[in-house]
Amino acid sequence: MSSFDAAPAAGPDAPAAPGARPSLREPGWWRTAVVYQVYPRSFADSDGDGVGDLPGITARLDHLANLGIDVLWLSPVYRSPMDDNGYDISDYRDVDPSFGTLADLDALIAACHDRGIRLVMDLVVNHTSDEHPWFVESRDPRSPKRDWYWWRPARPGHEPGTPGAEPNNWGAAFSGPAWHLDAASGEYYLHLFSPKQPDLNWENPQVRQAVYAMMRWWVERGVDGFRMDVINFISKDVTLPDGPVAPGAPHGSAFPGSANGPRLDEFLAEMHAAVGLGEQHLLTVGEMPGSTIEVARRVTDPARDELNMVFTFEHVDLDVAPGGTKWDLADLPLPVLKRNLESWQLGLADVGWNSLYWNNHDQPRAVSRFGDDSPEHRVSSAKTLATVLHLHRGTPFVYQGEELGMTNAGFAQIGQYRDIESVNRHAAALGLGTPAEEILRSLSVKSRDNARTPMQWDDSPHAGFTTGEPWLAVNPNHTSINVAAAQDDPASVLAHYRALIALRHTDPVVSEGDFELLLPDHEQLWVIRRTHGGRALLVVANCSSQPCALAGGEEPTGEDDLAGLRALVADADVLLPTHPGRQGLELAPWESRVYAFGA
Ligand code: GLC
Repeated sequence: MSSFDAAPAAGPDAPAAPGARPSLREPGWWRTAVVYQVYPRSFADSDGDGVGDLPGITARLDHLANLGIDVLWLSPVYRSPMDDNGYDISDYRDVDPSFGTLADLDALIAACHDRGIRLVMDLVVNHTSDEHPWFVESRDPRSPKRDWYWWRPARPGHEPGTPGAEPNNWGAAFSGPAWHLDAASGEYYLHLFSPKQPDLNWENPQVRQAVYAMMRWWVERGVDGFRMDVINFISKDVTLPDGPVAPGAPHGSAFPGSANGPRLDEFLAEMHAAVGLGEQHLLTVGEMPGSTIEVARRVTDPARDELNMVFTFEHVDLDVAPGGTKWDLADLPLPVLKRNLESWQLGLADVGWNSLYWNNHDQPRAVSRFGDDSPEHRVSSAKTLATVLHLHRGTPFVYQGEELGMTNAGFAQIGQYRDIESVNRHAAALGLGTPAEEILRSLSVKSRDNARTPMQWDDSPHAGFTTGEPWLAVNPNHTSINVAAAQDDPASVLAHYRALIALRHTDPVVSEGDFELLLPDHEQLWVIRRTHGGRALLVVANCSSQPCALAGGEEPTGEDDLAGLRALVADADVLLPTHPGRQGLELAPWESRVYAFGA
């Protein structure tokens, strides 16, 4: 991969930054790209303070170049009190000292561009930190910035600070009510996340212009796009209606009132124009909890000039008991998962574009959740999950360590957790009388800290992540699961990711082909056919820890049954196997094969 042509930043507002090298971006370049997410706190620590940082990332860039990824998405590195590990920003135009300096970020952008990798910033603009100067000013009821946030008096007839006096019944994502009483004015402010993350009021045009100006500043600094945090929350139902209350729940749901509001498309289109997202071919992906295919079709329709793609939550909300929260665990039958991904493929086939992901910094590790992380099946299941995802149509996102088959943390005590969501959940559930073992069990499955244990570089103490004491414990399995061990091993999960990423770059069937799900109700097999330009790829994946025979014995009734599948694969070439050399009509546990048809 070659480095990009670069030109120095120009214009009166251009920052004097050595890393500012706007790269030439072709229209639609992101349709063949693979994005790699770095969670800076947990990636690589250069100065021994136990917290990952920007120079640490720059020093490890060759790992990403060797993997072949096109884009690095950087979770927030802005100045922050770190209540939510940087998703609470107190200065949008500076780097937090724990991560380094602006000069370090410029150096990272330049080093990425030198390797042909583009850099996408996390954009957290539904809320700021309560320590952001905008909010500090807004606390004064006479300030012109009062209206920049959602300030409301107590519910009529209620004394501020008494139970039930909050302006509405919404619960916050990190437990407790979504309203915080500010003693100074006797009014409440809205925070859909922690009290240190007050929601910005996007109804106010000055807020929007301030955000767009900040985005332009980053584009001029050389970034290639934005991953937009909970971006569908920027338009709310301005009447802030009470939400439905689940049985036994202490608060109402903030859905539907807090998201996908009537002005969402308008705000996104306005941002698109004001920042020049289209002319400059910047990558945009909006994180959108609670969004539907219908919303995603609108938002990603190129004719509407809003976003390139969205992150749906539907497939990561399927292993939840009906009516429950993420902590109410439920089994996930394979057909349910397959059908869900299929619905998004078909829903966005003729308009818009999909993002593809199994995990990120908020979700458990893919291999532990959707695969089998036992020593026997970890490698095969990590590879097969990757094959299935990367053979869907859309832009795949790889979360750091996924390319090694890193597993959940295995924490058994509350003292091991650091994430505000997990720690608050533990306290709140204990308060409601939930048995401690049950809480710890659901945390071990669903806590965000599962994804945040440090990146496993080698088998040394602390996995080569830091020479100090890591902020979150390293997974003990780093002695065998690490980059150094996988690097030159052709049978490694890493090698399989490299092959999949290379295939996307070279084979237009992968990036552009039509999508079809075969055998949708099969409980072990995930079978996908992609077709384009007279060629086809067929994925046959055993997504179970038992062998699976394609020789079912039933009468052939068409291609959608096993007999039809047998006929299809009889003479086909295997392009990408998880188990090289194996042939025939039985798949080993978690074995998958990509067959190629046509010239
Ligand atoms: C998004 C982020 C998550 C964060 C939340 C609030 O969901 O991915 O990490 O806690 O928004 O910013």
